[in-house]
Amino acid sequence: MARGTEADEAADAYERHLAARERDRRRAQGSFYTPAELVGWVLDRALPTTGTVLDPACGTGHFLVAAARRLGVRAVHGSDLDIDAVRIARQRLHELDPSVPMATIAQQVVVADGLVAWEGRTFDAVVGNPPFLGQLRRRSAGQSEEHRRGLGAYTDTSAVFLRRALDLVVPGGVVALVQPISVLAARDAGPVRTAVAERGAVTDFWCTDRPVFDGTPVLTCVPVVRAGATPATDPDSWGALAAPGFGIPAVTLPGDTGTVGDLATCTADFRDQYYGLAPFVRDGLPGGTPLVTTGLIDPAESRWGSAPTRFARQQYDAPSVDLAALRADGALAGWATARLVPKLLVAGQGRVIEAVADEAGAWLPSVPVVSVVPHNRADLWPLLAVLLAPPVVAHAATRYLGTGLTPGSVKVSARQLAALPLPADGGAWDEGARLAEAAQRADATARTAYLGELAGVMTAAYGLPADHETAQWWRGRQQRPPGA
Ligand SMILES: C[S@@+](CC[C@H](N)C(=O)[O-])C[C@H]1O[C@@H](n2cnc3c(N)ncnc32)[C@H](O)[C@@H]1O
Repeated sequence: MARGTEADEAADAYERHLAARERDRRRAQGSFYTPAELVGWVLDRALPTTGTVLDPACGTGHFLVAAARRLGVRAVHGSDLDIDAVRIARQRLHELDPSVPMATIAQQVVVADGLVAWEGRTFDAVVGNPPFLGQLRRRSAGQSEEHRRGLGAYTDTSAVFLRRALDLVVPGGVVALVQPISVLAARDAGPVRTAVAERGAVTDFWCTDRPVFDGTPVLTCVPVVRAGATPATDPDSWGALAAPGFGIPAVTLPGDTGTVGDLATCTADFRDQYYGLAPFVRDGLPGGTPLVTTGLIDPAESRWGSAPTRFARQQYDAPSVDLAALRADGALAGWATARLVPKLLVAGQGRVIEAVADEAGAWLPSVPVVSVVPHNRADLWPLLAVLLAPPVVAHAATRYLGTGLTPGSVKVSARQLAALPLPADGGAWDEGARLAEAAQRADATARTAYLGELAGVMTAAYGLPADHETAQWWRGRQQRPPGA
């Protein structure tokens, strides 16, 4: 059946109307409608040849109409809180097959909360694009607290729909719901990934490195979950499913060589330090203590004093802490003493793990910089080599994919830094440590050469060939883009 019926036009018009006049309300309910190609991709993988399908947040029925073209109108079921959208969805289905009475369609497509509406029912497939809502806006979408049980406060509504869908699908059935890319690794989506692993497995995966929904920058993915299939993916992270789509090389690291946390203490600072420091920061204060922000940290390089930066909403050329005044004030005196030791400073996020050594223990970190303090001073350069090692970065980029501001950025918390594995080949590691030190002491040109060499040596330290694609991937990413 061709598109372009009156009801389809009504759906188009309704969406234009939504786009033009009710953008705010759409944001509040999380409604951004799904492109036809993505609907097709999902249905190709999810639909049985005969059987029933549910879209629990059906909107104007993009998934329902496409599914009804394949399975017939009687096979499709939907719910949505938006009464106008439901009316249009029903009308489109009725036009697709006028032999199905409107009263029947109205029983299949209902105005209801998709998280509670289908209690006791099961379907061969549950598909769709449920709302994405963070914690703050959730109330307005009227979802039941019942279905949030066991989930973190920040678990996205779309992930709650995913977990609920697992209850609504028959054994061997398929759940394919559009999700924000954060479902891959976000800690609060962990219980949902575990629920998927308990009930089935992700058998197909769609993702993009570009937003596909008009009006929202959110990147999305579709894990296709088959109930009863055997999981092949670690529920701690689905990042490995998406990594190839983002050009991240696949690596397997040794699991028995110890971790960064064995050699060092990794610590993040928070708002107390951020706000506590603000009154003591001056620009270019003679004898002041450098305050190093994320933006100033590059691999084996601090650009403090040579590049401008922002701190507490102000621009600085060389943000410096008046340590004497800070100590006299008292509140952060102990903190400053603890931080003013030899350490590595790691940027909050970057294109690679960006870390620099503060050999003299003379710099203070600015939130969200993480401090890595070696138990033994001699481990400073070896630890820098680990954080700059391409296989470690590929591992972190895969495992924590989607947690950064942009999916291309690598964001690793203090806890995650501590869990990074150490290399197996001690000889190569020593050489990597020597190169890391040389890189930090060198000028810009020589530093690039040392880091290029380090990439190969540390790739070998993790048991891969020195010319493995991971080394080249890291070299390409670690260079600051022109003008940045
Ligand atoms: C992102 S839109 C997707 C609509 C449709 N799946 C599509 O692809 O065109 C999300 C829809 O969820 C609806 N919605 C929000 N909260 C809901 C809830 N608790 N139950 C059912 N629908 C809900 C919104 O009204 C909106 O139509």
